[in-house]
Amino acid sequence: MNIDKLIGEMTLEEKASLLSGKDFWHTKEIKRLGIEKIMVSDGPHGLRKVQDGERDSIKANCFPTASSLACSFDRSLVERVGKAIGNECAAEDITVILGPGANIKRTPICGRNFEYFSEDPYLSGEMASAYIKGVQSQGVGTSLKHFACNNQEHRRMAISAETDERTLREIYLASFEAPIKNAKPWTVMCSYNRVNGEYASQSKKLLTDILRGDWEYGGLVMSDWGAVDDRVKGVFAGLDLEMPGSMGKNDELIVESVRSGKLDEKYVDICVKRVLNLVEKGTLHNKDAKWDKDKDHALCAEVQSECMVLLKNEGEILPLDKKDKIAFIGKFAQAPRYQGGGSSHINSYKVTSALDAVKDVCEVTYAQGYITERDETDKKLLSEAVSAAYDADKVVLFAGLPEAFESEGFDRQHMKMPCCQLELIDEVLKVNKNVIVVLHNGSPIEMPFADKVPAILESYLGGEAVGKAQVDILFGAVNPSGKLAETFPEKLSDNPSYLNYPGEGNTVKYKEGIFVGYRYYDKKEIEPLFPFGFGLSYTTFDYSDIIVSHDELKENQILTVKVTVTNTGRVKGKETVELYVRDLHSQVIRPQKELKGFEKTELEPGESKQIVFKLDKRAFAYYDAKVSAWRVEYGKFDILVGSSSRDIRLTKSVFVAPAEDLKEPYTINSLCSDVLQNPYGKKLIEELLEVSDDPDKSSDEFKVIWLGEMPLRSLVSFVPKKNITRETISKLVDKLNASL
Ligand code: BGC
Repeated sequence: MNIDKLIGEMTLEEKASLLSGKDFWHTKEIKRLGIEKIMVSDGPHGLRKVQDGERDSIKANCFPTASSLACSFDRSLVERVGKAIGNECAAEDITVILGPGANIKRTPICGRNFEYFSEDPYLSGEMASAYIKGVQSQGVGTSLKHFACNNQEHRRMAISAETDERTLREIYLASFEAPIKNAKPWTVMCSYNRVNGEYASQSKKLLTDILRGDWEYGGLVMSDWGAVDDRVKGVFAGLDLEMPGSMGKNDELIVESVRSGKLDEKYVDICVKRVLNLVEKGTLHNKDAKWDKDKDHALCAEVQSECMVLLKNEGEILPLDKKDKIAFIGKFAQAPRYQGGGSSHINSYKVTSALDAVKDVCEVTYAQGYITERDETDKKLLSEAVSAAYDADKVVLFAGLPEAFESEGFDRQHMKMPCCQLELIDEVLKVNKNVIVVLHNGSPIEMPFADKVPAILESYLGGEAVGKAQVDILFGAVNPSGKLAETFPEKLSDNPSYLNYPGEGNTVKYKEGIFVGYRYYDKKEIEPLFPFGFGLSYTTFDYSDIIVSHDELKENQILTVKVTVTNTGRVKGKETVELYVRDLHSQVIRPQKELKGFEKTELEPGESKQIVFKLDKRAFAYYDAKVSAWRVEYGKFDILVGSSSRDIRLTKSVFVAPAEDLKEPYTINSLCSDVLQNPYGKKLIEELLEVSDDPDKSSDEFKVIWLGEMPLRSLVSFVPKKNITRETISKLVDKLNASL
């Protein structure tokens, strides 16, 4: 397709028509010019293809949701999921799947958290990149969404997320930046909300200056469904495609604006070009792709078994022994909650529950225990469950949040589980202490039972084969290796957004700034229920021999960090090694540590492997809003390597120095503390004050100045005994500058 030639042949009306959807799922065709329509579909954890004239989507495999996938900390696994979904799209002639979602989990009660990866931008960005690479390897596009700051469902189409520039860049945008740069999604979907007062759908700052300017993005931007406020402003800002469309009304507005001179036609042409580029890509997928739903169902189970997080395992009650008398209790054992509600909802191909899967392992007894329609105790179900528990050696209690508790479109009111389930856990514990709680929830919940039960296994919303994964972990066929991609606080009020969520009217202020998730709990020294990056295994791992490539690193060099991990237990297992960076002496407020690397590795008992990380300048940088750039502060940083954000096993310091020697001259107003950083400056001051390095021998004046953080000129007033003049100071400054 010669796109420029085609644009030249189009009428203004035809161009404008291409800038909105034909219907919910298609772009428009222009038969006269041979321009075909393409189809897009949700997304993200499976294909929700709605065929023309149909209400329900086609049967499809429902993969683990993003909340679960992220716990794998496994890029290649997520890429495999993307590949499988991409192949499904190819088989169904879908050009773009609407996902992944890369919004940051600011509050645990955002109704859509199950569709997002993490509270941490690095992890979220890595997971989104892997998903995109997988899908796009099949000649199918993705739509990275919802750009940006769609961090709550409450008033999502009106709310303005108000955040300072540094927080925006370091937390909320960083999660999009990495996938844009590293995985190049074919499309980006803007969010419903406003950011600092302006609708994302008409924000030139977001859609052009940052996305296409700073990040050099070359793809198309579409609106979220119905996110357009002012279409003409949107075209100017870089919103190429309005979805699903406005019955032609906005197309007319575009035409009128061009005719009246309000909008330069070149902006229309730019958007048309991007739409046509995408239409052209619609031919890239394999037309003979085959979708084997049973194969993908098996993949759903395999993937989920890599994501499940073992939160507690006292007395090694897990894995279960098939010879034990085991009771499965709870409705979710038979009808698991495995996906969230809203646009991502999949018409699942088939569901494997834990009760289905356990049939291949051993016999268990089953009692439903509770209902999910209402939060009401059913006395009969409760008493059946208690007697099943009484008769068993071990009880596996399947619990969590029913569908009505969380979905796209609204936020949760609280972080609690239904009271009827909590009552069930308490009653069961009265007759049997060997209770393993298996959880189903899209995001963190309070766990008043955490201290009372010996084991807790977190499934999140684990996709259509979640039951198989649960049984594989429960009986030890698979060793758990998932780790939490978000903090589980004890209670909602511990969460950093608590004081400012959900905002007032149509404004929510992100006053906690960069202190989102573990960045906040760390700084405030709040002990969470379960920390970020935490997850147990049936084996144990030892960390040793940290080696860094440089003691002193020039700003533009790459730091290589190597550590050795050894499986010190009795069974094969996988461990995710996490690397955090801490700025030790910062002039700006920074978190205690930030995740900058992770690697998952499999080890046989007794086996050791060396894990290698590469850190570039960005790993040490913060966003300096004053100069609109990422800046590295020169000085000491700790490299922290461990098994969770609260289980750091190895630390090594590295000094980061400027790429070139800084020539910034000193003045008589330079702070003594800055001059003392320079060895020659330190020597000059020491000579002037006649003090020695030895603190015992140093004079009182020197201590006062050192502590006082004064400018050099203050030596005149505060060191009277030495009779220092302004001229003396000027000479010192000249000498120092001459040495630079
Ligand atoms: C959601 C998007 C989704 C779209 C199409 C919107 O309501 O926010 O994530 O892709 O609908 O279903």
